[in-house]
Amino acid sequence: MTPAGTETPVAAVTGAASGIGAACADLMRRSGWHTAGIDLNPSETDLPLKADVSDRAAVAAAVDQVVKRFGQIDLLVTAAGYYEEGIDVVDISIQQWDRMLSVILGGTVNCCAAVLPPMLSRGRGTIVAISSELALAGSATDLHYVAAKGAVLGFAKSLAIEVAGTAIRVNVVAPGPTDTPLLASDSLWREPDYLATLPLGRLVTPQEIAYAVHFLATEGSMYCGEVISPNAGAVI
Ligand SMILES: NC(=O)c1ccc[n+]([C@@H]2O[C@H](COP(=O)([O-])OP(=O)(O)OC[C@H]3O[C@@H](n4cnc5c(N)ncnc54)[C@H](O)[C@@H]3O)[C@@H](O)[C@H]2O)c1
Repeated sequence: MTPAGTETPVAAVTGAASGIGAACADLMRRSGWHTAGIDLNPSETDLPLKADVSDRAAVAAAVDQVVKRFGQIDLLVTAAGYYEEGIDVVDISIQQWDRMLSVILGGTVNCCAAVLPPMLSRGRGTIVAISSELALAGSATDLHYVAAKGAVLGFAKSLAIEVAGTAIRVNVVAPGPTDTPLLASDSLWREPDYLATLPLGRLVTPQEIAYAVHFLATEGSMYCGEVISPNAGAVI
């Protein structure tokens, strides 16, 4: 389903070169949308753009290119990110804190700031920020990541309220452990003992996360500032 009364809708997806972002771009494309990918690496989208989301000017330039090419942006998905696990809080360096916050939180802020003017001028648009189930549950030995993902929740909920009157909807998808390259082969989240604690007993697939994003972008018109967490039952 595509937004009613528009020409071909346009999705800008960060992190589109891999995992969840790639699955989101693929699903939107198969649903008839134009797709632009913003990533450090080339993505399989209609308009692959290389940019570091922590760089506000680079993000603004990339979003400009999307608008020049397609004339509009109907959906922003902020899936660019990375993960570092197994570090006690006292061992997280200043550089690790700063980089994590600038990519996860700063990247989300930069992308929203860049797409809002074209969305506001059309009075239409949807943003889906990708957080993490860990922001709901808390987690040890990855506090910088969890803190950044928690900040994304606060940012997205507040932005949702700020722009709700303009017909722009902002929501969050907070995935549980998902089978992408972000989880190293020796990640704790892949261990059979951990998976056995999950009611569904398995990792989520990136395609399943994309279904939640697609729903929020299309049929989910009643959602504003909502957090949907496909997490195999990790948080109930
Ligand atoms: N996989 C999981 O278990 C899981 C769980 C919860 C949340 N998430 C979140 O989902 C999002 C996508 O993760 P994924 O699992 O698909 O990982 P992934 O490693 O498969 O893909 C992440 C993509 O983001 C890009 N990227 C990283 N830093 C970037 C930057 N500074 N600028 C632009 N692009 C950048 C990478 O190049 C890569 O293509 C991330 O924000 C991640 O934190 C993942």
